[in-house]
Amino acid sequence: MRYEFSELSPAERYKLLVNTITPRPIAWVVTLDNAGRTNAAPYSFFNAMGADPALVVLGIAGDNARAGEAQKDSLRVIRETGEFTIALVTEADAEIMVMTAINAPAGTSELEFAGVETRPARHVKPPVIASSPVTFECKVWKIVDTSDNSAIVIGEVIAMDIVDSVLSEEDGKLRIDAPALKLLGRAHGAGHYWRGTDQIVIDRKSWPEETV
Ligand SMILES: Cc1cc2nc3c(=O)[nH]c(=O)nc-3n(C[C@H](O)[C@H](O)[C@H](O)COP(=O)(O)O)c2cc1C
Repeated sequence: MRYEFSELSPAERYKLLVNTITPRPIAWVVTLDNAGRTNAAPYSFFNAMGADPALVVLGIAGDNARAGEAQKDSLRVIRETGEFTIALVTEADAEIMVMTAINAPAGTSELEFAGVETRPARHVKPPVIASSPVTFECKVWKIVDTSDNSAIVIGEVIAMDIVDSVLSEEDGKLRIDAPALKLLGRAHGAGHYWRGTDQIVIDRKSWPEETV
């Protein structure tokens, strides 16, 4: 089967993309608006895009759940303040993370609603999710509007925190025991998630001596 995307509805395109481009990491995004209200939601259109500067991207769609096609709160507040934090999601936090994706009325704090503990960030005003083993403090680098209510937010990572228990040093090099983080990815369909428990190792070769 071949699909010409110009002949498909957005919902059909979405289905094809999210059921094939998997697994996707999940950014648990926290913002704080100028009235002091926190907001949290997961975003799996998320990845790291570079290290110099250190950039991450979020793909934020329009809010179909609200009448009149509004912006999602995360996008509205990121535009307003230029700041957000990201927490990576563990298996232990899976259910509570999904709870924060609830279509709550604008201005509702999903953190309070779902009972998510936070701690202060150092460089930005929004707090970070306390239970996460890896968190990032981000400032907007650029926002690319993709329609009236949707955008790709490119954030610069100002600082990150990672739990000491997964860090070690070997021959003077930093080692990160990533599997021990038990991070979750988004899989196909609406409610499927990936555990990173089944990996293979393939070492990269150097040109030309290891290729002959
Ligand atoms: C695991 C997961 C991943 C999600 N990823 C995205 C995403 O990448 N982009 C998006 O627009 N919505 C995504 N959503 C839906 C938003 O989290 C949801 O619309 C949320 O209510 C938005 O909240 P806000 O209005 O407070 O920003 C995702 C939901 C879940 C459960």
